[in-house]
Amino acid sequence: MDLSKLTNRYHVRLLDRTDIETILSLCRKNSLYYQFCPPAASEQTIIHDMEALPPNKDLSDKYYFGFFEDDSLIAVMDLIAAFPDEKTAFIGFFMTDTSVQNRGIGSKIIEELCSFLRTTGFSRVRLGWVKGNPQAQHFWHKCGFAETGVSYDTGAYTVIVAQRAI
Ligand SMILES: CC(C)(COP(=O)(O)OP(=O)(O)OC[C@H]1O[C@@H](n2cnc3c(N)ncnc32)[C@H](O)[C@@H]1OP(=O)(O)O)[C@@H](O)C(=O)NCCC(=O)NCCS
Repeated sequence: MDLSKLTNRYHVRLLDRTDIETILSLCRKNSLYYQFCPPAASEQTIIHDMEALPPNKDLSDKYYFGFFEDDSLIAVMDLIAAFPDEKTAFIGFFMTDTSVQNRGIGSKIIEELCSFLRTTGFSRVRLGWVKGNPQAQHFWHKCGFAETGVSYDTGAYTVIVAQRAI
């Protein structure tokens, strides 16, 4: 996928280990998220997220990337193409910088992402949020995602699986 076509409002690029400090500083401000989804962000958890893959997927379908306004990182996304099936894209993680939150920026990015994924050939987007996280639940409902009825228990928290046709 050519991520540069996702939006013309931000510079979008894959993130790597040289970006860890910047990613960490964005994540650490989002304390509510980590209350529901421990452990707290650290260099190790960011490296883990950069490399994490669902079953039977390889790195060719993994996009861990950032949205930059000028040189500032304003959002991070982890996207897996064609998971759990060929027509579905899976958002593993999406977070905006607290300095830009509640201004419609996150939902606009998701709209642009869904349009981009539709033109790329996908029919739906799937994701999960931690049960009880009011911010995540409100945000994904606002973006048109609905619960699939599937949830799973990680031991530390329960994940609600949601999906949207695009
Ligand atoms: C969820 C998140 C991506 C939204 O980004 P954003 O740029 O603020 O998005 P928007 O401004 O488009 O929408 C935010 C919505 O969440 C609502 N919201 C914010 N904090 C909330 C809270 N504590 N409880 C309930 N709703 C909340 C806002 O009121 C707004 O909804 P509204 O427009 O209906 O009023 C951002 O808050 C974030 O990064 N949170 C931490 C990570 C996370 O939870 N990611 C999603 C799960 S992977």
